[in-house]
Amino acid sequence: MTAVTHPVVREPLHSGVAPASMPGLDLAQIRADFPILAQHINGKNLVYLDNAATSQKPRAVIDAITRYYEQINANIHRGVHTLSVRATEAHDTARLTVRRFINAADTREIIFVRGATEAINLVAQTYGRKHVAAGDEVLITAMEHHSNIVPWQILCEEKGAHLRVAPIDDSGELRLDEFEKLIGPRTKIVAVTHVSNALGTVVPLREMIEMAHKRGVPVLVDGAQAVPHIPVDVQALNCDFYAFSGHKVYGPTGIGVLYGKRALLDAMPPYQGGGDMISSVTFAKTTYNHLPFKFEAGTPDIAGAIALGAALEYIGGLGMDNVAAHEHELLTYASEQVGALEGVRLIGTASMRAGVLSFVMDGVHPHDLGTILDREGIAIRTGHHCAQPVMERFDIPATARASFAVYNTKEEVDALAAGIRKAREVFA
Ligand SMILES: Cc1ncc(COP(=O)(O)O)c(C=O)c1O
Repeated sequence: MTAVTHPVVREPLHSGVAPASMPGLDLAQIRADFPILAQHINGKNLVYLDNAATSQKPRAVIDAITRYYEQINANIHRGVHTLSVRATEAHDTARLTVRRFINAADTREIIFVRGATEAINLVAQTYGRKHVAAGDEVLITAMEHHSNIVPWQILCEEKGAHLRVAPIDDSGELRLDEFEKLIGPRTKIVAVTHVSNALGTVVPLREMIEMAHKRGVPVLVDGAQAVPHIPVDVQALNCDFYAFSGHKVYGPTGIGVLYGKRALLDAMPPYQGGGDMISSVTFAKTTYNHLPFKFEAGTPDIAGAIALGAALEYIGGLGMDNVAAHEHELLTYASEQVGALEGVRLIGTASMRAGVLSFVMDGVHPHDLGTILDREGIAIRTGHHCAQPVMERFDIPATARASFAVYNTKEEVDALAAGIRKAREVFA
């Protein structure tokens, strides 16, 4: 078998930050903050490289959940008793932490939802249903997660509208020229990923948003794979909506965020009806609550929001520039080590990447590789990564995907490379 070499990532891997200097992170301390990492799996040290699916949780997050249920638990907004007031305050504080973390202008622009998926569905079902009509167009890219495809397909089907898809090139880079050409007079919204979960590509978001805005088209950004890895400033990006999930950024499952510009959110109809999203109800007429509550019907995941706040405090405390620089180094190293292995082909070699290393191996199905790596205590993900059109674009059924977090080390990348070599021997 001939060795397949591939271009490795070059500076910069991600937008916005120049990882010029060594980051000031104490990796041993960081790893000690994540209790699960001390585990052995199949008799080996756990090497957790499935962070794009979900990240592990630091003690600060686990403690925030425990503390909430041990000391605070009460429903928010409706109570005058002390615990309800404390729960409401803690929930409000979490919203403030989210606002600061993504630099939104106002806490009213932060809507708590279940995750990125729900955030995108919310926009499709409210903004989309109001503004998209028969013959209109919704523009996405060829590297979207199913969560940023299917909600728009449902909308387009209902309305008789068309889904347009901006292509990517063989490295997994967006064809910006084609993207621009596809923004037409019937385009009602652009919905794009910030970082591809299958390829790691960081898209040129600012340019894309400018192109759309020049034509008066709002932009929703799926930030599920960006928020954990690179600093995100929604005002600097000037995006209209930004969606992300708590569980990929060291927080718990079941909580996520939709950021929206206030004027847009104000003008949108509500998503779901129920308690908390109203200001008054009679059988004749209901008036809706002000932002953000208009979009938060029913009892929210109070503990989840508070724990997400703890997660963002934790990672923000390390410094997102430091996190990005550390992960940049890891991804560069992993691209070199894994990309140089015999029979391995990297899928996704765009010049700007973050968090994700996708690859295939001659003669070894990704699932078999994943199983062999698991025996070595190494957790990677194999499959289509909820991005089947990406697999189709590269004419492959699946990839193996190693994805990184702040607690990963070069030694773990070495373990991954050794595991892949072992798999190769098994299948030789
Ligand atoms: C790019 C991207 N968007 C959206 C999602 C959906 O996130 P969730 O399942 O947390 O709603 C994911 C999850 O993998 C993702 O990677």
